[in-house]
Amino acid sequence: MSAYKKAVVFGGSGLIGAKVVTRLKEAGLEVIAASRRTHVDTTTGQGLMEALQDADVVVDVSDVPTFDPETLKTFFRASAEHIYAAELAAGVKHHVTLSIVGVDGVRGNPYFDAKLGQEELARASGVPFTIARATQFFEFLPTIAAGFTKGETTGLPDALFRPIAADDVATALAAIALAPPRNSAVSIAGLESASFEHWFKRFFDLTQDPRQAETDQAATYFGARLQPCSIVPAAPDYIGAMCLEHWVTSPSARSALSGDRYAHATSEISKQIQ
Ligand SMILES: NC(=O)c1ccc[n+]([C@@H]2O[C@H](COP(=O)([O-])OP(=O)(O)OC[C@H]3O[C@@H](n4cnc5c(N)ncnc54)[C@H](OP(=O)(O)O)[C@@H]3O)[C@@H](O)[C@H]2O)c1
Repeated sequence: MSAYKKAVVFGGSGLIGAKVVTRLKEAGLEVIAASRRTHVDTTTGQGLMEALQDADVVVDVSDVPTFDPETLKTFFRASAEHIYAAELAAGVKHHVTLSIVGVDGVRGNPYFDAKLGQEELARASGVPFTIARATQFFEFLPTIAAGFTKGETTGLPDALFRPIAADDVATALAAIALAPPRNSAVSIAGLESASFEHWFKRFFDLTQDPRQAETDQAATYFGARLQPCSIVPAAPDYIGAMCLEHWVTSPSARSALSGDRYAHATSEISKQIQ
């Protein structure tokens, strides 16, 4: 039983946010799913004070889907300014920021740079906090594949990769939110670490995707040159339960994959378990 009674989830309508809202409600908390569609805008401060009234814990999983450095910087800086002023006024006891494993170790990926900036703002805020760094979500695999594909070839960085289901990230985040603040970072990762090439060969096989996954020594991770272990944690604090084969047949995969790919994966897995 947690000491917290009320939670606010910024980005509570998003992929991770909606799942965190469900888990915190299941834990018995009153939960506000705060985003622009519920008239809360972190970049302008609209609706923040009302949402945060009597809140004990906040989970920030809001996002702006861009690689434009200025847009990213403006989004996270303006959001932090409004969020932390309102949280300090409301007496929030624990702020959880969802970040990404490796943001402190690689340069050149504008999104990673912006997330590191977001972490620094959390550390400087004066609100007790935990930074939860997760590895990439299975739900993000189609986007990553698209970013590395030319023609029928997907040329991937020569590095380890350890993706995780969004459901598992949400479960870990809810547990982190309900615990006392660490005032430091913790990591969340999938079950297995393997090369990008291994993961995308497996993903393409399962979804009958004709693309050829291979290692390209020149490939960066959206601008960041990776070392073998740049974006995998040495010893994760939270490890997901779902493997890729399980995920491709889950409801979350149905939204992330095209209808055909989901149908192929589901039939492939049912053949394997017969
Ligand atoms: N993709 C990955 O593999 C990965 C890995 C590790 C960590 N992460 C982190 O995971 C987090 C969540 O990602 P996600 O995929 O769940 O994002 P998402 O599905 O795109 O959801 C983003 C949420 O932010 C809300 N939002 C956007 N602008 C807002 C604003 N101005 N004020 C209030 N809310 C706003 C959106 O709702 P409205 O549109 O209604 O405002 C939505 O609820 C991100 O911080 C990302 O950095 C991602």
